[in-house]
Amino acid sequence: MAMSDILAAHDLQQTPEELLFRPYRLGPYDLPHRIVMAPLTRSRARQPGNVPGPLNACYYAQRASAALIVSEATQVSMQGQGYAWTPGIHSREQVEGWRLVTEAVHRAGGLNFNQLWHVGRISHPCLQPDQMLPVAPSAIKPSGMAFIENENGEGELVPFVPPRALQIEEMPYLVRQFFRGARNAMRAGFDGVEVHGANGYLLEQFMTSGANRRDDAYGGSVENRARLLMEVVETVIEVWGSHRVGVRLSPLSTFNDIADDDPETTFGYVADKLNDYNLAYLHIVNPAAAALEQGTEPDPRAMAMVDLIRESCRGTLMIAGGFDRDSAEAWLEQGKADLIAFGRKFLANPDLPERFRLRAPLNPDDPSTYYGGGAKGYTDYPTLAQERGEQPWPCVDERWR
Ligand SMILES: Cc1cc2nc3c(=O)[nH]c(=O)nc-3n(C[C@H](O)[C@H](O)[C@H](O)COP(=O)(O)O)c2cc1C
Repeated sequence: MAMSDILAAHDLQQTPEELLFRPYRLGPYDLPHRIVMAPLTRSRARQPGNVPGPLNACYYAQRASAALIVSEATQVSMQGQGYAWTPGIHSREQVEGWRLVTEAVHRAGGLNFNQLWHVGRISHPCLQPDQMLPVAPSAIKPSGMAFIENENGEGELVPFVPPRALQIEEMPYLVRQFFRGARNAMRAGFDGVEVHGANGYLLEQFMTSGANRRDDAYGGSVENRARLLMEVVETVIEVWGSHRVGVRLSPLSTFNDIADDDPETTFGYVADKLNDYNLAYLHIVNPAAAALEQGTEPDPRAMAMVDLIRESCRGTLMIAGGFDRDSAEAWLEQGKADLIAFGRKFLANPDLPERFRLRAPLNPDDPSTYYGGGAKGYTDYPTLAQERGEQPWPCVDERWR
């Protein structure tokens, strides 16, 4: 389609009824539309020290037209790191590095939340302080591989190791790691934080029965398994107030070897309990993502889970996973969600809201450049304005590493 056709089509197709483009009030923020950028690990923090830099600032600023950017997962401590080259939010240098990012996003008119992360057992001694064992609710080795940096400075996959079960005396220290991360995120100029309770990392390891065999106050009943998440939410709220805090969950996901005996009870309880905190939002990874993406009929259990979360959550619900423009609009219309987050489409289309508005073609994403490397596959996905010659191509010092 020629650009003039796209622009003409735009006038016809952008109907005011489309929910995707309607403003939304999120806590203290007025979002111009409902298209959020999902958190995306890109493993491009500067080394040594896992420090964000100008390249990362450029990448995020390019995507500032998102209603909200949720940053890539960011470890709250050295113990919380599980992959090579992911950024942290525990050192002074990292806070200063993130400041470059948040200032660039704000200059470009965007809003960004920092996703606070502790990986638990999804790590390896060579990523841990003093080569110690990764920590977990119970000493159960996950199946799968850790992504580390080898002696040649290259990424390499190595098998997970059995983690060390946390002692109950250590639990306040874990909560404290999130407190420090939240406070540092504020110092770095973020607009809020998202607690990463999804995708098989520490908080989900505690929540789900397959990874948690504890018999103390943090194991057994669903209330006990959800205790650490609630303590983390409370401590983060101390820093940010409830309206600038979101939580991400991934009900029914098996990613990172997670399993639960009764996910409906577990996630129903957690979603309901989170209402007590008046959070900015609950964010779920869509259990029906694969079916949605393939255009097949979703597993009824997945849709029942979406309904259960929707019924349990009395505040703003954000959903990510498998959406395109039309399915996002359909889910908003059906009241299944209030905001839709896009991962891979935002990764490859810095101006995704504009492309959606115009029904313009999307750049395809390149999985070979998801993790690690430099500008290639990171800041060089073109915007429509660049393609039209109306916007300069970004120029980032390639010596950033
Ligand atoms: C390269 C990549 C990195 C991701 N990193 C994170 C992350 O740091 N934190 C997180 O919660 N989810 C992460 N996800 C999951 C996405 O946020 C999102 O849920 C997923 O991509 C599905 O949405 P999509 O179908 O729109 O891509 C990642 C996904 C991809 C593809």
